[in-house]
Amino acid sequence: MLSVAVVGSGPSGVYTAQALLQQSLVPDVRVQVLDRLPTPYGLVRYGVAPDHEKIKSLQNSLRAVLEDERVTFVGNVGVGGADGVSPARLAELYHAVVYCVGASADRALAVPGEGLPGSYSATRFVSWYSAHPDIGADSFARDALAARSAVVIGVGNVAVDVARILARGAGELRRTDVPRAALRALEESRVREVHIVGRRGPSQARFTTKELRELGALPGARVVVDPTELALDPAYAAPDGLPGALPLPAVVRRNLEVLRGWSVGGGVGAAGDMPGGAPGSADAGRRIRLRFFLRPVELLERGGRVAGVRFARTAPDGAGGVRDTGRYEDVEAQLVLRAVGYRGVELPGLPFDPVRGTVPHAAGRVLRGGVPSPGEYVAGWIKRGPTGVIGSNRSCAKETVASLLADAAALTRRTAADDPLAVLREWGLRPVEWAGWLSIERAEAELGRSLGRGPVKIPDWAGLLAAARDENG
Ligand SMILES: Cc1cc2nc3c(=O)[nH]c(=O)nc-3n(C[C@H](O)[C@H](O)[C@H](O)COP(=O)(O)OP(=O)(O)OC[C@H]3O[C@@H](n4cnc5c(N)ncnc54)[C@H](O)[C@@H]3O)c2cc1C
Ligand SMILES: NC(=O)c1ccc[n+]([C@@H]2O[C@H](COP(=O)([O-])OP(=O)(O)OC[C@H]3O[C@@H](n4cnc5c(N)ncnc54)[C@H](OP(=O)(O)O)[C@@H]3O)[C@@H](O)[C@H]2O)c1
Repeated sequence: MLSVAVVGSGPSGVYTAQALLQQSLVPDVRVQVLDRLPTPYGLVRYGVAPDHEKIKSLQNSLRAVLEDERVTFVGNVGVGGADGVSPARLAELYHAVVYCVGASADRALAVPGEGLPGSYSATRFVSWYSAHPDIGADSFARDALAARSAVVIGVGNVAVDVARILARGAGELRRTDVPRAALRALEESRVREVHIVGRRGPSQARFTTKELRELGALPGARVVVDPTELALDPAYAAPDGLPGALPLPAVVRRNLEVLRGWSVGGGVGAAGDMPGGAPGSADAGRRIRLRFFLRPVELLERGGRVAGVRFARTAPDGAGGVRDTGRYEDVEAQLVLRAVGYRGVELPGLPFDPVRGTVPHAAGRVLRGGVPSPGEYVAGWIKRGPTGVIGSNRSCAKETVASLLADAAALTRRTAADDPLAVLREWGLRPVEWAGWLSIERAEAELGRSLGRGPVKIPDWAGLLAAARDENG
């Protein structure tokens, strides 16, 4: 029998468990999926936007894996932290441990003013509207959403997500599982302008076309694109290819088509007199301005809070990058969300590459001092870095599991605990098992019913653990 712990129940953890179940090299496999949270699914629960119901429903296929009789969900057990279990002790309990802990921190902009009140990472904003229990339900945004103008820095899909949530009427979010305090704050939001700003050009933007198009379909919001910023883009000027380079990737071509559609007759000027806009959104109460070739250099302050962002105007350098032009532009904003990427966090007791923010590995085998460490593996964002959609983690997990299975003969010669859960309890941990999670789900459904909504997320540790203990005892 091969006994494996998977640390992290996000997509990479669940796909790792699934790959272990679906192979036939080692017929008898037991998998325990540990998570520091009492809830499974990682960023599918705490990252994927609440209005993306179809993607959220991927939870159903992840659920089927966690409900397999060879798999045990062990929530509320952190690894590597002060209240958790160390990697060294965990290794005593299982033949192998696969770390799938994601990349939960935000990348810094490293510009003056970044820490001003009113300036937040998108990571924090996402965690707040997703009810992550590490973020106080009321802590975030009532006063931040008193802002009239918001700047979102970065042009990836997370930037598009947070801009859409800011621009979407709270009425529409009522049908989602957004927690009560966040819904209330978004209902009271006075944000009317959302600027999404890229430091390079539209052909280097990281968002995907489906997500981009959604901005144009928001009721009550209008998208504005400055045609002169599109004209600056060399790829845009030569739509069939980067000058002298490869053909334009399809996603870039499609993005450019959408942006051009929005830019027709448009231009960036004073609020209220903008001729350009997405079709079908004539009565727009909110504006989303997509801006390019603006590199943030400083967050501006007034009265001890953020008041705007100073950008250096950039221009294409001909090789996909940009150079500064010596000109600057200030954009007024009382709320700044920095959506410039996520970052892996060092897990004490595991090797870590601070530059890449990942655990060093060879085909998923954790490297200690450059040498594979027996029985330790990684998958997902902590292995590859914080890029890629949910499905990307499936092939990543498969590679790791192939390495683990190739090592299986040696691994099963190591000792493993007969009942690792009992040992974890002896060590003072209080795992929330699957029944506890189902109890949380029931409590969220009940909360929603009492509010005349579908399931509504419980946003705090005490509430989640109380709901779980109803079942766990
Ligand atoms: C805001 C946002 C929105 C996204 N939206 C989409 C989308 O709509 N569609 C799409 O395809 N992709 C989307 N993605 C990408 C997708 O979420 C990721 O590809 C995927 O979640 C990465 O999986 P992972 O398992 O590596 O990490 P995660 O999903 O982050 O899972 C990591 C898990 O490990 C647990 N953990 C962390 N540290 C410890 C520890 N020390 N001990 C125990 N457990 C621990 C965490 O609690 C978490 O459950 C989005 C990403 C973000 C950031
Ligand atoms: N709906 C979905 O499918 C969905 C939703 C959310 C997230 N995701 C996925 O999750 C992953 C993470 O998304 P993400 O948006 O966090 O990351 P991302 O795609 O890497 O985008 C990060 C953005 O930040 C910019 N940036 C980085 N450093 C900067 C700086 N110092 N100043 C200004 N701009 C800076 C980048 O610009 P440069 O390119 O110039 O560096 C880029 O535009 C992606 O793979 C994404 O597709 C998917």
